[in-house]
Amino acid sequence: GAPYPVFTRQEVGRHRSLAERVWVTYGGEVFDITDFVELHPGGKSKILLAAGGALEPFWALYAVHSQEHVLEILRAYKVGELSPEEQSQPSQGDPYSGDPPRHPALKVNSLKPFNAEPPAELLTETYLTPNQLFFKRNHLPVPAVDPASYRLRVEGPGGRVLALSLPELKGRFPKHEVTVTLQCAGNRRAEMSRVRQVKGLEWGVAAISTARWGGVRLRDVLAHAGYGEEEEEEAGEQHVCFEGLDKDLSGAAYGASIPYRTAMGRGADVLLAYEMNGEELPRDHGYPLRVVVPGVVGARNVKWLGRVSVRREESPSHWQRNDYKGFSPAVDWDTVDFTTAPAIQELPVQSAITEPAPGATVPPGELTVKGYAWSGGGRGVVRVDVSLDGGRTWRVAELTGEEQRPGRAWAWRLWRLTAPVPPDAAELDIVCKAVDASYNVQPDTVEPIWNLRGVLSNAWHRVRVTVAE
Ligand code: HEM
Ligand code: MTE
Repeated sequence: GAPYPVFTRQEVGRHRSLAERVWVTYGGEVFDITDFVELHPGGKSKILLAAGGALEPFWALYAVHSQEHVLEILRAYKVGELSPEEQSQPSQGDPYSGDPPRHPALKVNSLKPFNAEPPAELLTETYLTPNQLFFKRNHLPVPAVDPASYRLRVEGPGGRVLALSLPELKGRFPKHEVTVTLQCAGNRRAEMSRVRQVKGLEWGVAAISTARWGGVRLRDVLAHAGYGEEEEEEAGEQHVCFEGLDKDLSGAAYGASIPYRTAMGRGADVLLAYEMNGEELPRDHGYPLRVVVPGVVGARNVKWLGRVSVRREESPSHWQRNDYKGFSPAVDWDTVDFTTAPAIQELPVQSAITEPAPGATVPPGELTVKGYAWSGGGRGVVRVDVSLDGGRTWRVAELTGEEQRPGRAWAWRLWRLTAPVPPDAAELDIVCKAVDASYNVQPDTVEPIWNLRGVLSNAWHRVRVTVAE
């Protein structure tokens, strides 16, 4: 037949909605899949995530597509080919030019440094978040760490210093695996900004993700360095301080600390992780080694870990002392005194709706609502209540995902509710709220928990949708 027309990636990128038609690429070929969007067995919203770009990064995550009949469907929609010289050049003289490639589905809140969350409708598609979709929260460029020369510096009692190589860490200490949910203190900040402007990245509901982390226990490493559990009683208020290998222009490293008992207490599951979901830790998530502190705010989970020390004082880092703290709604930028509030460690109970999307149109009949729920400090989620009428009447959602040990429920539960759509309703005000093992509940509105930094945003989550055929 006649040769196909040749397009650039930019031209393909202009076709990213049903109105402009939906084009995608696969290999060197271009497809107009507009007519397939409504037929997609995985749903319209998911297939549209790839609109205007390549299918490969999406299909790599959903193996259901590596079947001949899927390719056959695609072939029917071919409209062209990509020009061979389609290569993007990394920019030079940019401290972020060495950052790793990222998945195109991520919703980017800031490119440099890179901060991004997955689309909500992909977040609850799997219990463990695929590494590429796991939310990414960087304050600085991703450091390039050479695994061969890497040493973890552990400062022991009496000035003794250990320098542990990766093979030493992996060989000397037993491997331990824990499923842990990480949540950024700023998750759902956008809802706080809607009440009154706050300072910070506009996170939606997906600055939270779950992985199976593998590594060595921090307590084993600290014990090897000479610290013991009894220190807890003797020394009282001590802190384990972490420093990353990512540095700002002044040479200051990202740092944070956790209380000594969080690291050394009985049943402590704090990891120095080198694996994430069975793969080598990705560069964005702290390669080659990061701290994973179950039940504790993301900010203490220091990535690209360079140094561990035990001190009488918390980490002197800006991010420990002058950020990631909660305040009264009465406090503003003129009156705030960061020394008056404790650093956030364990997080409060949280839940959010991931499907349907805000503003979506849902058909009458039956509706399925999906979401996640989690609480800090190992407190399990015991229940999620869902309302379709703004909180007047409630139904109990079905919890899915791993059931976890009491007091060590480090990972989220996913949930779903299928319910009849009230026959007379033109709109639904869908609400969810979770209850944790201590019967902590989420506050019903944002206003009373508003704070100038927009952290700890855990009010009932509300999604409004339209009902129509
Ligand atoms: C399922 C085709 C893009 C996510 C499927 C299936 C087909 C298909 C045929 C059913 C496979 C089976 O069960 O044998 C396509 C085509 C696409 C496309 C032709 C592009 C032109 C995407 C994208 C995503 C996605 C971009 C993700 C963001 C899914 C999911 C399922 C699925 C999650 C499983 C649905 C379920 O089992 O409930 N797709 N797909 N697809 N697809 Fe796609
Ligand atoms: N560690 C280093 N070294 N540098 C950072 O910028 N960001 C922290 C934490 N650890 C950060 C870090 C914050 S605020 C969060 S929420 C988590 O990493 C995010 O982890 P993730 O990117 O693996 O999701």
